[in-house]
Amino acid sequence: MRNTLFGLAAVLALPLVACSDKGDDSGAGSTDGTDGADGADGGDGADGGDGADGGDGGGDPTLYEQLGGEAGVNTVLDAFLGKVVADARINWFFANADAANLKVMLHDQICSATGGGCAYTGGSMLDVHAGMAITDDQFNALVEDLLAALDDLGVPYALDGSEVIDPLLLGLVGMQGDIVTDAAGDTVYFNQLGGYAAIGAVVDEFLVQVAADARINGRFAEADLPRLRGLLVEQVCEATGGYCVYSGMDMVTAHTGMCITDAEFVAMAEDFVAAYDVLGVPYSTFFDGSEVGDGVVQVLVGMQGDITEECG
Ligand code: HEM
Repeated sequence: MRNTLFGLAAVLALPLVACSDKGDDSGAGSTDGTDGADGADGGDGADGGDGADGGDGGGDPTLYEQLGGEAGVNTVLDAFLGKVVADARINWFFANADAANLKVMLHDQICSATGGGCAYTGGSMLDVHAGMAITDDQFNALVEDLLAALDDLGVPYALDGSEVIDPLLLGLVGMQGDIVTDAAGDTVYFNQLGGYAAIGAVVDEFLVQVAADARINGRFAEADLPRLRGLLVEQVCEATGGYCVYSGMDMVTAHTGMCITDAEFVAMAEDFVAAYDVLGVPYSTFFDGSEVGDGVVQVLVGMQGDITEECG
């Protein structure tokens, strides 16, 4: 058992020093060999560095220490967050996140839960993730990212309690019920539409339709299309209950002075529906809400008064 524990620290090649331990080299020494367990135990007891967690003086090392302490947890967190940033299934959730603060919060949460003696000062998992409409698939994607990070670092896990890191992983998986609020992705309209990627595909096809529509494409000759695309995705995402914040101007401000006619507005709405046709998104004849595509069209039509303008 001990060999397994310190095997993990050796794999991480990190000192077994808890965040509250300063300058304790006994743990670091223990990473040199598989028999370092006793050294680490002794070190904890001797240097009194366990004041913050209050639980490891002279006894078994805390899980936090077994994970490699401060440096070990930060190494795993960096690798994990790197995976999340590269994961298109979920990285858009973090578009407006304070990455530095998120890392501190995750660190403190793990440190606190594993006996590292840190205080977690963030919100409850229920409160923090409420309103994000996270699905089971997205939760699992995040867990996969964590496991992929552990694979990269060569940290063993089994998710059955037999590996050192398993209690932490099982604890995280146990939070699923508090974090996931639209398990099957069939409750929140945004998820019914297929989520972020599906909305991006609709917006992309819509812009293709607009570019090919001689009735209105001249309006976009000077437009910053990548920026427009981003704002449209944000707008549709937010309007359908997705975890996005629309960062553009309100519709009146954005269109004042353009003298957009009702006919042009209708042309644009037709282009949107043509994008649905290309992608096979179902909608009803009168957009009465009976088909999944109807809601977005209803939102668009509701904007007509803000976008069109009669000019003398
Ligand atoms: C066991 C899994 C998870 C844990 C332990 C966790 C933990 C946390 C923590 C500690 C925070 C910061 C709380 C605060 O600032 O008060 C946070 C924020 C956040 N989480 Fe999670 N989370 C998990 C799963 C997820 C999933 C699956 C997603 C989305 C796919 C997600 C998206 C976010 C976002 C977007 C924020 C806000 C970041 C910001 O605005 O700074 N989380 N999470």
